[in-house]
Amino acid sequence: MSNSAPIGVFDSGIGGLTVVSELMRLMPGEDIVYLGDTARVPYGVRSPDTVRRYAAEGASFLRDRGIKFLVVACNTVSAVGLDEVARHCDVPLVGVIEPGARAAVAASKAGHVGVIGTEATITSRAYVKAINDIDSSVKVHGNACPLFVPLAEEGWTEGEVPRLAAERYLEGLKAHGIDVLVLGCTHYPLLRPMLALVMGKDTSIIDSASETAREVRDTLEKDGLANEAEQGRASFFVTDSPEKFQSVGERFLKHNIKDINKVVLKEVC
Ligand code: DGL
Repeated sequence: MSNSAPIGVFDSGIGGLTVVSELMRLMPGEDIVYLGDTARVPYGVRSPDTVRRYAAEGASFLRDRGIKFLVVACNTVSAVGLDEVARHCDVPLVGVIEPGARAAVAASKAGHVGVIGTEATITSRAYVKAINDIDSSVKVHGNACPLFVPLAEEGWTEGEVPRLAAERYLEGLKAHGIDVLVLGCTHYPLLRPMLALVMGKDTSIIDSASETAREVRDTLEKDGLANEAEQGRASFFVTDSPEKFQSVGERFLKHNIKDINKVVLKEVC
């Protein structure tokens, strides 16, 4: 596999751009091929079987783009379908759960960690398992926060509406005495300032997106696969309107988005 091959990034829609933003910051020389399944987002409310079927299609698409490494940026896919992705894309890959879990265990002194994510991610208990595989004494308290996804996409990341939603979603976790909160969904980094305000200064916030990007950089360097070019390029594939992806996505990426192509994913068995 050549160093100049692109990194593939897969997400259910636009949220994975928070991971791309971190990848671009840490590894500006890398080419990136992003796939957002915008026609079928959100994945977080669907059954594991359906998410796994979609994940197989996305993985096959990216495999055929000649990628050297695959980042499963979607927490929901990482939680319920990482093995299915690996089955259909035979390049080294990383999901967002393990890097977030490692950072959470390292940061917690109280031994009580809160995790927020989609219904599918929380129900899967993937973060509980990943954290307890590292340290079985850590108590993990999860809560699904489905309203945060549309709030982030609408750009309602500050003010009364997200604050009230955050207070309601987080009150149970606060009562457990957590000292670490894991943002277990691609969209939640946009709400980070609000979540930090509601949790207070004694709670560390772990952003799975930036933890994952660091792991990708370290792995590529270790395997001699990093691209030292001056400036990489990014291309984007979506399954629904490129215009909508561009307007909302630029807020997530904090960069202009060009080169957006609409594609149809092929069914795979
Ligand atoms: N990308 C999803 C995740 O990180 C959030 C949006 C969705 O539900 O598809 O879980």
